[in-house]
Amino acid sequence: MLVSAKEMLNKAKAGKYAVGQFNINNLEWTKAILLTAQENNSPVILGVSEGAGKYMCGYNTVVGMVNGMLETLNITVPVALHLDHGSYNGALACIEAGFSSIMFDGSHYPIEENIEKTKELIRIAGEKGISVEAEVGAIGGEEDGVIGGGEVADPAECKMIADLGVDMLAAGIGNIHGKYPANWKGLNFDVLAKIQELTGTMPLVLHGGTGIPADMIKTAISLGVSKINVNTECQLAFADATRKYIEAGKDLEGKGFDPRKLLAPGFEAIKATVKEKMELFGSIDKA
Ligand code: 13P
Repeated sequence: MLVSAKEMLNKAKAGKYAVGQFNINNLEWTKAILLTAQENNSPVILGVSEGAGKYMCGYNTVVGMVNGMLETLNITVPVALHLDHGSYNGALACIEAGFSSIMFDGSHYPIEENIEKTKELIRIAGEKGISVEAEVGAIGGEEDGVIGGGEVADPAECKMIADLGVDMLAAGIGNIHGKYPANWKGLNFDVLAKIQELTGTMPLVLHGGTGIPADMIKTAISLGVSKINVNTECQLAFADATRKYIEAGKDLEGKGFDPRKLLAPGFEAIKATVKEKMELFGSIDKA
């Protein structure tokens, strides 16, 4: 059964580790992430962007697929199904469809409007025990065609949003989605420390987990980050493994063209990436 992200993240914050949010794109992705979580006795959050939701034929299809897998694969570790960077209407649709967690990304609204909409979603989600993530300070890079500026969040605004009763808070600290450019200045730990000082036990969320060096990840966790989002890195690992299979001509050998064979190296590559992240985040054996 899907669970809200609240309890697993509060445990992570108290235990000084982070739970990975791995974004899903299709059946192979979902199965790879769920099996890796179970094999490593780790809690996990499946992230679904609005674009990925559309690609997978809508939120009802996603909920049906994930619930089916939890049962058939005997997944007993805590799993949350979470809308990533949701709009207000997208969040309502996911609550309706059976997601157990939502993110409302109101970071592009003026703070007053971000507050109003976040409050309303907390009320609606709260009635169903669904956890809510809010964002202050846009995350840089591209997310489903939306280019964020890589802002650094205002800690006072973070405190205002945290006090509304969200379960987790994403704050821009110089992180971006996708690969980091060579001239990237790194994460702003002074701001992160200030945000944690003001928001206390609130689990903080680090977006753009792909390509952040291990030492920065560890420092971020020590400063209150309890959820780290990873998307691009699984996509790169999948593409790389699939390219190698094709370039080696394996799809031309015997029944190598069978999708169950052709997609297998990519599937294994996602599993290896997810395991590596769970080790780095410290979530293994924390289920
Ligand atoms: P990356 O694609 O950079 O790993 O970012 C993922 C993310 O933050 C999803 O919200």
